[in-house]
Amino acid sequence: MKDKIVLITGANKSIGFETARQLGLRGYRIWLACRDKARGQAALAKLVAEGIETRIVERDVSQLSSVQAAAQYMFKEEGQLDILINNAGI
Ligand SMILES: NC(=O)c1ccc[n+]([C@@H]2O[C@H](COP(=O)([O-])OP(=O)(O)OC[C@H]3O[C@@H](n4cnc5c(N)ncnc54)[C@H](OP(=O)(O)O)[C@@H]3O)[C@@H](O)[C@H]2O)c1
Repeated sequence: MKDKIVLITGANKSIGFETARQLGLRGYRIWLACRDKARGQAALAKLVAEGIETRIVERDVSQLSSVQAAAQYMFKEEGQLDILINNAGI
C-alpha cells in the first residue's frame, strides 16, 4: 500500500489516532486532520517516532470554511487523496 494517502479526521487521539497508527505501520502515508494544532503536533510526534510518514492539517469538521481550506491545502501538497476516514464526531 505504499504511496496510498489517507486523511483521518479527529486523529489526535483515541480511535482516530490508533487508526492512523495502524495504517501508518502498514505503509500508508498519513494526514492527521485535527482542530487543535498543539494536540495534533503531539500526535504527529508519536507517529513519526514510530517511523510513520505523517503530515498534519488543521480542520474543524463543524466549520465548512475550515473543511474547504484543509482540502485545498492537502490537494495542493499531495495532488491526491486515496482514502478519507470521517472519524471526528460525537
Ligand atoms: N468509542 C466508542 O466506543 C465508539 C463507538 C461507536 C462509534 N464511535 C465513533 O467513533 C468516532 C471516534 O470515537 P472516539 O471514542 O475515538 O472519540 P474521542 O475519543 O472523543 O475522539 C474524538 C476525536 O475527534 C476530534 N473532534 C471532535 N470534534 C471535532 C471537530 N469539530 N473538528 C475536528 N476534530 C474533532 C477530537 O479532537 P479534540 O481532541 O480536539 O477534541 C478527537 O480527536 C466518533 O465518531 C464516535 O462517534 C465511537
